[in-house]
Amino acid sequence: MNTYDIIMKKRDGHVLDKDEIVYMVNGYTKGEIPDYQMSAFLMAVYFRGMNHEETTMLTMAMADSGDRLDLSGIDGIKVDKHSTGGVGDKTSLIVGPIIASLGVPVAKMSGRGLGHTGGTIDKLEGIPGFSTSISEEDFIRQVNETGLAIVGQTANLAPADKKIYALRDVTATVDNVSLIAASIMSKKLAAGADAIVLDVKVGSGAFMKTIEDARLLAKTMVAIGTLAGKETTAVITDMNEPLGNAVGNILEVQEAVECLQGKGETRLMEVSKVLAGYMLVSAKKADSFEDAMKLVEDSISSGAAYNKMIDFVAAQHGNTAYLRNMDTFEKAKFTRVVTGRDLFAASEESSSFDKAYLTACNNQEIGMTSLVLGGGRETKESEIDLTVGIHLCKHLGDFVLADEEVAVLYGNDENKLEVAFNRFVKAYTLSQTNTFTNKIVYEVITKKDIG
Ligand code: URA
Repeated sequence: MNTYDIIMKKRDGHVLDKDEIVYMVNGYTKGEIPDYQMSAFLMAVYFRGMNHEETTMLTMAMADSGDRLDLSGIDGIKVDKHSTGGVGDKTSLIVGPIIASLGVPVAKMSGRGLGHTGGTIDKLEGIPGFSTSISEEDFIRQVNETGLAIVGQTANLAPADKKIYALRDVTATVDNVSLIAASIMSKKLAAGADAIVLDVKVGSGAFMKTIEDARLLAKTMVAIGTLAGKETTAVITDMNEPLGNAVGNILEVQEAVECLQGKGETRLMEVSKVLAGYMLVSAKKADSFEDAMKLVEDSISSGAAYNKMIDFVAAQHGNTAYLRNMDTFEKAKFTRVVTGRDLFAASEESSSFDKAYLTACNNQEIGMTSLVLGGGRETKESEIDLTVGIHLCKHLGDFVLADEEVAVLYGNDENKLEVAFNRFVKAYTLSQTNTFTNKIVYEVITKKDIG
């Protein structure tokens, strides 16, 4: 078998067999296949696609490239949750404490931000003292004692994905259904949970821009999970604007805590509750989704979910005083307010407006605004600035007057703030009539939908 022939076979649109896929994955992970050949292979997959069997074989080869976590030392049905990536998506920080407070053990390995999308581990590091890397033994012990632990992926969890993802990130081969499905599911299978709930994002801030692509990704991942013997549910949710009011690491932790205190923004609360609901059903803690939603509401209104967040942060050495008094979190040095007038002035079509509806936004650009401020990584090595980000005062469908605040940008560098401002104001589409119709939860895909 040789690499050149496998690249050519995929380039010409043929179906690869298991040995060929395993050869590529293992060869690249061990450093025997160089970046330039793997890049060519990934680009061939990007254009030619992979069928279900090839995608499943790719997933298994990646999951088997390192250790599989053994969660058998934790009692109960372990349910994992994963988002395909979005802007302002802090649902793991909300859903984890909710379902842990209801007796479902959460042993979660999370990632860092990728491109314009944020990552749970970066966000948690915004809490002073919080440790995202603990030993496997402590991880299991913490889940047994506290019900919830969230750590970064260990180096040997699906190492093939780690290497391939980094290459995809710089070779424009991220947004492909087979590659995303294999990347996510290899990590989820290696992370050892019994059931998986996936949040598949769709829209201008997601990797999948259309509902058809999102549905295909959801079905592909549910098929892989089902084949691997894990109950897998995918919820397709909107990413045409940031989720909630905050984008940026510390800002998002603060917003997540507010949600657990019952003060969350409507759309963010809805997605979080729905995901938590399906996790409870998968964990057999509720007979129906409706019953699960009642449990979720009780967990928030009784303070149980918030208390669980405090216990979890304390267990991972985070200073909980910051959560109890969120004004004490470190803040960015500079702020820049964006008003309706700034948005109106940003394009020729809206320059005569003195009021308008926000009808659409290029959400990837909002993510890039946060990245430009320092909240995301431009290269793998970039250090991120946990204090910067965006607070949105308006959402799609809102009517905005010239003097009204649309957003506040937070930065530590005035030049970056200026660049970010100029990007942000161009991200919105304005109209005199409200044409915004987006729902927040579009569809739920389970094994009965995959035929
Ligand atoms: N998240 C992942 O973990 N992998 C992808 O390929 C895309 C989003």
